[in-house]
Amino acid sequence: MSRSAIAILSTENLLHNLNVIKNHVGSAKIIAMIKANAYGHGIRTVASKLDGLVDLLGVASIDEAIALRKHGVRSPIILMQGVFESNELLLASVEHFHVVFNNFQQLEWLDKIILPRALHAWIKIDTGMGRLGFDLDQAYSVYERLMNHRSLIKPIHVMSHFSAADIIDHPLNQEQIERFKNFTMLIESSGSQLSLCNSAAIFNFPQCHYHYVRPGLALYGVSPLQGRCAEDLGLKPVMSLQTSLISVRTFKKGSLIGYGGRYSCPQDMPIGIIAFGYGDGYPITARDGTPILVNGIKCSLVGRVSMDMIAVDLRACPTAGIGDPVVLWGEDLPIEHITPFTSNISWDILTGVQHRVKFLWTRI
Ligand SMILES: Cc1ncc(COP(=O)(O)O)c(C=O)c1O
Repeated sequence: MSRSAIAILSTENLLHNLNVIKNHVGSAKIIAMIKANAYGHGIRTVASKLDGLVDLLGVASIDEAIALRKHGVRSPIILMQGVFESNELLLASVEHFHVVFNNFQQLEWLDKIILPRALHAWIKIDTGMGRLGFDLDQAYSVYERLMNHRSLIKPIHVMSHFSAADIIDHPLNQEQIERFKNFTMLIESSGSQLSLCNSAAIFNFPQCHYHYVRPGLALYGVSPLQGRCAEDLGLKPVMSLQTSLISVRTFKKGSLIGYGGRYSCPQDMPIGIIAFGYGDGYPITARDGTPILVNGIKCSLVGRVSMDMIAVDLRACPTAGIGDPVVLWGEDLPIEHITPFTSNISWDILTGVQHRVKFLWTRI
């Protein structure tokens, strides 16, 4: 029998989350963020399931976009970081990819190249994220330059990105909203479409939905908001990580469990060993007490996470034996309940799920 680490992925929940988001944003169009292997869920399958149901698929690079085209995905695709070299503009134009321009190097490449057909283009402006995008004092002149560019389909569109949308009263949010609004007032009659919201902003700042929203985490059924779980938002987890116990032993009071002897048994107690470790994508930073379901009963992780194994305190489930089912996160144990026991965020835990885990998608 092979190792039993399985990610069950729910098509129904993915489509449910998409509908929740659609209902929430009304007429705004959806850019489904499927970069980073669709947040660990498998970019090809997620893209196929969303194909034709969303307005754009958001990827980080042209490699991801080409892989989707080869896989038969026909929906329009947007390269969120734009191109990384001049030749990618050619491919993007042939494949009708939307390209985000966020720096002057990309503009130079555009000026020097002759494209077979005009490109769908976006300008990214930096309203306060401090990452990619044109500074606000340059943004309007770049916008005009792009609007007059021979190689682009007009109008070009405009996006920016929040840095703290998950914290509703973070002062940066209002500053970013204000700066975005000020920029859009300069281009009011241009017909350009606008996009500002990631998942957290979709829920926290409904006044900012504009023409396109860009949900990532929420699509996968995980809450992007601090202190609110997915269920509160009507979302359902797409991924359920399941495995099983491969050992159950009773340890004496004072026994040390796992690398470094981090956990000392406070009494004689049963300890289970689970076939899943950081080599599968379980966060190495998980502390003692991180919840784990064994036979559907909430138990606690004990000791340091190993590459292929985790130890679990079975005092809450004393009859558990080898082969019994374990859920690490999923519908009955939202990842938002795991994250506070780690130094991670839900985004990186999901994207960290490794290829050696078996992926099984449910059909609808
Ligand atoms: C520019 C941009 N928009 C939208 C998203 C989606 O964010 P979230 O997963 O928080 O919805 C991301 C994610 O990294 C992003 O970089």
